[in-house]
Amino acid sequence: MKKEETKYSKSSNQDFEGFSDIQKVPSGIPGFDELTNGGFEKNSCNLIVGPSGCGKSIFLSQFIYTGAVFYDEPGVIVNLDQKKEIVFSHLAKFNWIFFELEKKGLVSFINIKPHELKKLAEEGGGFIWDTIVDIGAKRFALDSLSSFCLYFQSQYELRESVINLFDLTRKWKCTSLFSYHTSDFSKLKFEFSLEFLADSLIALYSIRKESSRIRGIEVVKMRGSAHSSKLAPFEIVNQEGIIVYPSENIFEI
Ligand SMILES: Nc1ncnc2c1ncn2[C@@H]1O[C@H](COP(=O)(O)OP(=O)(O)O)[C@@H](O)[C@H]1O
Ligand SMILES: [Mg+2]
Repeated sequence: MKKEETKYSKSSNQDFEGFSDIQKVPSGIPGFDELTNGGFEKNSCNLIVGPSGCGKSIFLSQFIYTGAVFYDEPGVIVNLDQKKEIVFSHLAKFNWIFFELEKKGLVSFINIKPHELKKLAEEGGGFIWDTIVDIGAKRFALDSLSSFCLYFQSQYELRESVINLFDLTRKWKCTSLFSYHTSDFSKLKFEFSLEFLADSLIALYSIRKESSRIRGIEVVKMRGSAHSSKLAPFEIVNQEGIIVYPSENIFEI
């Protein structure tokens, strides 16, 4: 069996009765879809939250990369923090050659400032929308929503802009991931109710255990879907990316 056939699920949520009305999109993260009944809801807005270095950007990149390579779903990455050359060269360490995908028109990377994103979103997407149409994007990733939020002084304006952004990506018919930097996601309820605006909330942890760190992933909420309530261990593996271990227990490793 080829490597990708063992690692990446081809089906969506066909094994889960009672949720057949919800179309799922495989995440492309080995092991993760077992926690979520088959991945993310199609055209939904999903928050990937956690502290610095926990793997948020890698999670988003793997979702976009595998979408383009394995699932016939091209993707657009909007990055507010870093330039394409730096991001793509780091991702090559996982054997994800984004430059090739870009050349083939399967992926597009847009580096803009938060105020530019705000303006484009108010105009209905501008050249981001043009790019989505050009490559037929079905996946969208914003890295990071927290940088977007930093731009705003008024909580009201921030909330309205995030609602607008989420509505737009749904209208674009993209399944979307938004990274959000926080070391305490319980605060998201209070920070302009961000948690309630998204369709799912996935928390990544990096837990200190003696002389090393263990990584954990938790599906805090996923609208319209049964999901595991487990804190599952995961690894970031050189040349592979994120691998989740849904049947293992984080406190036993
Ligand atoms: N090639 C690699 N092999 C294994 N682990 C890596 C590799 N590259 C990065 N990492 C791990 O991923 C972390 C960064 O992940 P990243 O997704 O950028 O975090 P975040 O976006 O949450 O700040 C690094 O601190 C390191 O632990
Ligand atoms: Mg990051």
